[in-house]
Formats: sequence, structure tokens, C-alpha cells
Amino acid sequence: MNQPKPPRSVLDLLTMKKEGRKIVVLTAYDALFARLLVDGGADLLLVGDSVNQVLAGAASTLSATLDQMIYHGTAVCRGSGETLVFVDLPFMTYQVSIPEALRNAGRVMQETGAHGVKLEGGSHIAPTIKALVEIGIPVMGHIGLTPQSVHALGGYRVQGRDPRAAERLLEDARAVEAAGACAIVLELVPAPLSGRISAALTIPTIGIGAGAGCDGQVLVTPDMLGLNEGFNPKFLKKYANMGEEVRQAARAFAADVRGGVYPDQEHSFD
Ligand code: KIV
Repeated sequence: MNQPKPPRSVLDLLTMKKEGRKIVVLTAYDALFARLLVDGGADLLLVGDSVNQVLAGAASTLSATLDQMIYHGTAVCRGSGETLVFVDLPFMTYQVSIPEALRNAGRVMQETGAHGVKLEGGSHIAPTIKALVEIGIPVMGHIGLTPQSVHALGGYRVQGRDPRAAERLLEDARAVEAAGACAIVLELVPAPLSGRISAALTIPTIGIGAGAGCDGQVLVTPDMLGLNEGFNPKFLKKYANMGEEVRQAARAFAADVRGGVYPDQEHSFD
């Protein structure tokens, strides 16, 4: 069977939407997983600031730093080949002023080799998106549940449930598109509303907990691999049970070492 042609530039994302081809996005934080996920058919890798929670054990994404994102972004780009890579701009690296946002996004682009940056927010952040796009930095927007605003939103909860909030999200999506973003993440948005937003935009929507009407889907890789065992939201489908596999492997190794079974002659040098 012919493999669908993966996107090689941000413009291809628009073509994929036009042609009705779903966009497959997974988060990646290192070269090892980047290689595996690209082999597995990911269209785009997102170096999410979720790394701060999922791998670094923090309670939220708020304490992620620019240096941390550049470190992970660089590693992912070393393993991603020609696949598109976007890196999250962390909290407070783009909200204070447009010049600061340009400088910080510029560092991400120069130091990691990524193809673009993602930032959170709707209408209020549109001027920043416009300024980034104008200097040649592709931007992916992110609305709905925006984890960097988790405290203001009162927790990780579905957004846009009432009619006024739904209209606001639609306006936000339109503002992000008008500012020049090449795609937009919709996180924890009711499926009918994501469908409406997707139909109203020409740029692709990438959903997480946002139903089937989006133009693409993203999951946090350790979550979908079953490595983040305590995290079980309704939208998450686990495609592997790697947490248990890792535990079993560690147990088997421990038993072999304690029993003097490993290393045996086969795994030793004469
Ligand atoms: O940080 C992240 O991994 C993200 C995805 C959940 C979209 O923003």
C-alpha cells in the first residue's frame, strides 16, 4: 500500500486540509522517540511544554523554561529527519512584549532547527502571532484549554461549553488564523464546536480532546503509550501498555542480577 506523502513544509499542512487528509501529530522530547515516531508515520512532531509535567515531574507547564524547550527541541530535530517539528514557547517567554516574543522564538528557531513555534491564546495574542509570522517564523496557535492559564481557567476542564464561551472560542480561532498562524490546536473543546471551528477556518485544526471533526489529532506520546499510568482522561486512548512492560523488564533484570544469572557467558568477554 502506498504511504501517504508526509508534509515537508508548513504549506503542505494547508494542502492536507484542502484534500481532507488527517494530520497526525505526536509530542516528542528526544531524538530516540523522534526517530521511532517518524518511522511510525507521524506527520509532525510537537515538542510540547508538557515535557515539564510528563518527563520532568512538575505539577504544571508553568515552570518550563526556554532553555529546557531548546534542549528538547534540539534533541528532537536530531532524530526527526525531514519531518516537521514545532516547539512550544513556554509561559512568560512571549506574553510580556512582542520584541521579547520575537527574540525568544528566534532563539528556538536558530538553536533547535525546528520549523515553527506554538503558543497559547486567542484574540489577545494575535498581534504577537502576526509579528512572528511577519519575520518568517511559522506559528501554530493553541486555544480551548490552554494549560499555561490553568489557574485562571480553574483547572483542566472542557472549554466553550456555553453559547457565549463557544462564540468567544470561534472568534479566537478566527483571530489566530487572520494573524497568519499555519495551524491551531483545539484542546478540550466539545466535538460539535471543534467541528464548527474547523469548518470556519482554512488552516487545519489539530484536536486533543476535541472530537473527530478536527483536521488532525495530537496526543502526548507517553500518555498514549501507557507510560503515564496515573493520567486517564476520557479523551485518551492508550495504544500500548509500556508502563507495565518497563516494570516487567526492570523486575526481570533485578531477578537475573540478584540470582547471578546475568551476565552469563554469552554476555561476557573472554
Ligand atoms: O504541551 C503539549 O504537549 C501540548 C499538546 C497537548 C498539544 O501543547
